[in-house]
Amino acid sequence: MSNEEKRPTMIDLARVSKTFPPDTHALDDVSLRIRQGEMIFLTGQSGAGKTTLLRLLCAIDIPDKGYIEIAGQDLSRATDTELQNLRRRIGVAYQDFKLLPDKTVAQNIAYSMEVSYRSRQFIRSQTEKLLTELHLLDKMDAPAGCLSRGEQQRVAIARAAANEPELILADEPTGNLDAETTELVMQLFHRYNEQGATLLVATHDHSIYDYPGSKIIKIENGRLAIQKPVGTGRKAETRA
Ligand SMILES: Nc1ncnc2c1ncn2[C@@H]1O[C@H](COP(=O)(O)OP(=O)(O)OP(=O)(O)O)[C@@H](O)[C@H]1O
Ligand SMILES: [Mg+2]
Repeated sequence: MSNEEKRPTMIDLARVSKTFPPDTHALDDVSLRIRQGEMIFLTGQSGAGKTTLLRLLCAIDIPDKGYIEIAGQDLSRATDTELQNLRRRIGVAYQDFKLLPDKTVAQNIAYSMEVSYRSRQFIRSQTEKLLTELHLLDKMDAPAGCLSRGEQQRVAIARAAANEPELILADEPTGNLDAETTELVMQLFHRYNEQGATLLVATHDHSIYDYPGSKIIKIENGRLAIQKPVGTGRKAETRA
């Protein structure tokens, strides 16, 4: 058994399907296992099912069929309290950001830490650290709705990372960013991954795949197409 196979499972999907009316098979019989500490890039054409998969993983949506387990928690059997506790361990950067436009950047980032009862000092220092890292410190007290798309995207990423989650789900996190700013975001993700967090990043951006030890998973029309470890060019079967 390799070292990677010994790691506990963070995400387990077995035969998951999700259909939207009238007959869009957004996900079709998807099975996938992601282990703790892995960095995974989820690729596929527009409409392939990437966002649908991420929404199921953070229990915003429920599958029509199949089984989903996150950090040992069966999502279909979780109580509201168990789901709340689980969500505190997951940081999500949504494709459409979901920021509160009238709240300041700092207030948007603080939210995930406040619901976890973090101290004011922790919240302040995490906010400043992340905004410095993402070159946004000067926007800390600006209303989030006044920021450019690329700035809002970075705020969404800072909010996802702020509570030091075990799992980060990021949906097109570099879609509005130039190459230099993309690099800042990827450095942040790599830092979290090196500290043990599991990352699942949905992206079209080929420039960010190249990270030793990471894997690419491709979805085509709602089905898993390939899983490929970066750097080896080796194709693997659909279940890691
Ligand atoms: N709430 C919904 N109601 C109806 N159809 C939906 C809904 N959400 C997603 N779909 C459809 O499911 C399919 C998968 O959508 P999804 O948003 O997961 O794609 P994606 O891979 O994230 O695409 P993109 O790269 O454009 O973000 C698409 O055909 C989409 O139109
Ligand atoms: Mg999407």
